[in-house]
Amino acid sequence: MRILETQGLTRAYGGVVAVNNVDFTVEKDLITGLIGPNGAGKTTLFNNITGLDMPTSGKVIFNGKEITGTPAHRICRMGIARTFQNIRLFKELSVLENVMLGCHFKVGDPKRRLASALKSYVRLSSEEEELYQRAHKWLGFFKMESLENELAKNLPYGHQRYLEIARALATEPQVIFLDEPAAGMNPQETESLMSTIKRIRDLGVTVVLIEHDMKLVMNICDNITVLNYGGKIAEGTPSQIKSDPLVIEAYLGKDDEDE
Ligand SMILES: Nc1ncnc2c1ncn2[C@@H]1O[C@H](COP(=O)(O)OP(=O)(O)OP(=O)(O)O)[C@@H](O)[C@H]1O
Ligand SMILES: [Mg+2]
Repeated sequence: MRILETQGLTRAYGGVVAVNNVDFTVEKDLITGLIGPNGAGKTTLFNNITGLDMPTSGKVIFNGKEITGTPAHRICRMGIARTFQNIRLFKELSVLENVMLGCHFKVGDPKRRLASALKSYVRLSSEEEELYQRAHKWLGFFKMESLENELAKNLPYGHQRYLEIARALATEPQVIFLDEPAAGMNPQETESLMSTIKRIRDLGVTVVLIEHDMKLVMNICDNITVLNYGGKIAEGTPSQIKSDPLVIEAYLGKDDEDE
């Protein structure tokens, strides 16, 4: 079943057409990869789906309903979460507080949400106690409970990436968009990230990821879409993508006659 799609999505910045008439589809409960060379328009497509940017034309459809141009916070509450290519954490807050903010984003009165999330743990109300437990559970998912009182900024890079994913999952999304989750990770961390992404899928969360690490993409994705110069040049299973001549050309370059 299709949970999310774009229809003819285009985003131009002046003369630069960052995303050009892209039909992108995401099937529920699967892992979808979005790949393409630097500057291909991958992050721009994520931004236009998740409400951080507004398409020049085209549509975004989630669970059969058009959501084009809906602001990011509302999109998040509808069940679409994301992480960023350049990690965006509340660096001066603790690990646990970062995840509690994700929990708060989903529930409660918006005016109270931030203030109450940041209150001292000494006087936890029952609602806050429940939030604490939920945040703790998400840290457990990433085996990071022992780090809950560390400041986010003091975590090693790989853990910062995990923390951002934990915060996104704490909003209890139907779909999570991960923008280069393995960037900056060493091979062991990348290996463990692969099994973590599968565990996220097994929770019933549909995963969409942008990734340059081809081993990771080919190993865990059910479907892959390839962008090049803003346009979609291929989509299919990993084996179809690996043997697609347009994809090989985009990644390896064609024989350069000028050389
Ligand atoms: N806010 C913006 N203003 C102007 N141009 C932009 C803006 N955002 C992106 N672009 C341009 O759009 C194109 C696509 O950029 P985008 O960041 O989406 O690529 P990407 O596929 O995510 O690349 P990378 O793999 O390097 O992250 C690039 O040419 C980029 O310079
Ligand atoms: Mg990008």
